[in-house]
Amino acid sequence: GKGIAVFTSGGDSQGMNAAVRAVVRMGIYLGCKVYFIKEGYQGMVDGGINIVEANWSSVSSIIHLGGTVIGSARCQDFRERVGRMKAAKNLINRGITNLVIIGGDGSLTGANLFRQEWSSLLDELLANGEITPEQRNKYRVLNIAGLVGSIDNDFCGTDMTIGTDSALHRIIEATDAIISTAYSHQRTFIMEVMGRHCGYLSVVSALTSEADFVFCPESPPPEDWEKRLCTKLEQERTAGQRLNIIIVAEGAIDREGKAITAEQVRKVIVENLHQDTRVTVLGHVQRGGSPSAFDRILGCRMGAEAVMALMEAKEDTVPCVISLDGNQAIRLPLMDCVKRTQAVAKAMANKQWEDAVDLRGKS
Ligand code: F6P
Repeated sequence: GKGIAVFTSGGDSQGMNAAVRAVVRMGIYLGCKVYFIKEGYQGMVDGGINIVEANWSSVSSIIHLGGTVIGSARCQDFRERVGRMKAAKNLINRGITNLVIIGGDGSLTGANLFRQEWSSLLDELLANGEITPEQRNKYRVLNIAGLVGSIDNDFCGTDMTIGTDSALHRIIEATDAIISTAYSHQRTFIMEVMGRHCGYLSVVSALTSEADFVFCPESPPPEDWEKRLCTKLEQERTAGQRLNIIIVAEGAIDREGKAITAEQVRKVIVENLHQDTRVTVLGHVQRGGSPSAFDRILGCRMGAEAVMALMEAKEDTVPCVISLDGNQAIRLPLMDCVKRTQAVAKAMANKQWEDAVDLRGKS
């Protein structure tokens, strides 16, 4: 059978384990030899005990766990050709020519470059006498399939990334808890949520928690936002509301592109309205804990589809990313999606917010 390896790279997210489990079991079911690569690209470079064969039971009892049981890391060595040579040799030695990578756009781009370079890496290994001519020929093509694991939901081409739904649930749970104490003391709470430059978590959590105001990266508020915010908060109190909730995305900015922080918002409220105001930064709580049912299923479906894509890949098949389109797990060309994701980042950096939203929305 074919040699497949699965690894997780970059920041973790809930549901990654479900995806790892599905890759292992679907791979074994189809007669492949499946390997874990531990600690992301670092494990691929270091080899040894970091690359181990998986069996059916090695992925038992992980579907409900958050994080990634096979570890993840940001890796400097893989950015250097020497590191990638080592990685290639470690894969060839185990007969691995199929990779399932679970990570964000940076990690997926790295995998694509590795694939493009594969042939020349093998030539060099052959010239150095580190692999045999038979190996050079037998393992000449590296196939890759990507899955997007990220709580940010910031990848173009997929409706949801693995982990976003769980992070959202965690935020809502925390907000509900905050609301009860805010009610008792008639307080105003500012909740800072993650998401990097993507406003998905902030906007959806604001909508579902009946927040009074939200600051998100793709929609910087008008210049007079301080006034608008205070007017809105006051209106709500006058109407009899005992509390106010404001969601601030960690990547929130103003129209000049300058950060709007939770602390800044707190000061505005205290100085103008003298409300009893507190800031809660949710932080990594959002990224940990058990995955929601949605993320477990999403991980399972995407993992299984990735293995099928690898099984069907021909020499000239372009690498794919598994994405969710409506309720379908589909394959899209990996680099098209990565390029669009990068175009979004560029539009954001150029303060073209509407273009960014447009680009992100197209599938
Ligand atoms: O990309 C996921 C994410 O949790 C972002 O929402 C956040 O900005 C970042 O990672 C935090 O990174 P780190 O875990 O390295 O502190």
